[in-house]
Amino acid sequence: MYYLTYRSQSLKELDHSHVRKQLEKILTSETIPHAFLFTGPKGTGKTSAARIVAKILNAKENLTSVQTLEPKLKDETLIAIAKGTSPDVIEIDAASHRKIDDVRQLISELKFAPLISKYKIYIIDEVHMLTKEAFNALLKSLEEPPSTTIFILATTELDDLPKTITSRCVVVHFGHADKRDLIAMLKRIVKGEKLSCPEEILSCIADCADGSFRDAAKMLEMAVMQQAFSVEKLQEVLGRGWSTDELLGILDTGTLKETLTWIEDAAAKNANFRLLIESLLSLLHTILIQKNGIDVELTKTYNFSIKDVAVLIGLLQRAYQEMKYSPIQSLPLELVVIEFTDHKAKGV
Ligand SMILES: Nc1ncnc2c1ncn2[C@@H]1O[C@H](COP(=O)(O)OP(=O)(O)O)[C@@H](O)[C@H]1O
Ligand SMILES: [Mg+2]
Repeated sequence: MYYLTYRSQSLKELDHSHVRKQLEKILTSETIPHAFLFTGPKGTGKTSAARIVAKILNAKENLTSVQTLEPKLKDETLIAIAKGTSPDVIEIDAASHRKIDDVRQLISELKFAPLISKYKIYIIDEVHMLTKEAFNALLKSLEEPPSTTIFILATTELDDLPKTITSRCVVVHFGHADKRDLIAMLKRIVKGEKLSCPEEILSCIADCADGSFRDAAKMLEMAVMQQAFSVEKLQEVLGRGWSTDELLGILDTGTLKETLTWIEDAAAKNANFRLLIESLLSLLHTILIQKNGIDVELTKTYNFSIKDVAVLIGLLQRAYQEMKYSPIQSLPLELVVIEFTDHKAKGV
């Protein structure tokens, strides 16, 4: 799988430029923090970065300049870290080791010095899953670990962590990846796989990936597997083969039958109705703002009254919730258009 084969192995390969710069700064500063906290949405490189930082800290070279942040992988201890077999870099999945006894076990091992490397590094992933008691047990070690121990905590849910934990760590925020960084990552894969993939495809994937490197890599893999090398085909493969402008236009001026036919066509093209409703809501939000006299850019004009737009938004929001339980993905949207047409017919 691309996202595993092309997992970043060095800072240079960490395409999240904002994070890369922060890490460069921290790692070349006078004192190395004894506890890091990586936080941000899924697929933005927290686990990858934790492993990279572990390698850098355990590299033989002194960390004085950015150049030395790219340790040579000839060093056996680093090869072991990269392979995940180093006895000194311990990865703990807090989602499955969340109890106080798990943390006690970890603490009992802290007194042993690293076996083959400079530092013993604990990577605790999904750290927000620890129980309250487990967090409390961890606090003291986090504050004053042995001088050769470093903690790297990672979480998608910063708000679920006790303040006492966050305040003891150097926090690095992994925001959603921006389009340029996503495209840089995709280009690394394209080059590695010797693919010929037009720039517009990469751009389209980056737009659809919702700021996640992992999702972008998976989408590229899907595009390659299904040979979707035109934007149109790609959008279809990704469940985005539709235009919200078009649907709203039909809903605005067409008949109920035409609207339902459009939805059936979209379903036949494997449309992702969750995404479809999300983008409808986003478009309607813009229309609502515009109809209230605020200057926003819209490619089309609609006859809807402000009340119509508000009603439609309300119906779609409810449908969005109901989708989770609907065995037929298109059904909640179909009910929305039926109800909305009824609302318009009544003219209230
Ligand atoms: N900063 C990045 N640069 C390049 N690829 C990345 C980056 N972050 C994530 N990826 C890709 O996404 C995959 C998942 O990343 P991971 O580090 O597990 O993210 P997280 O722990 O934040 O969910 C990686 O294997 C890699 O393919
Ligand atoms: Mg992770």
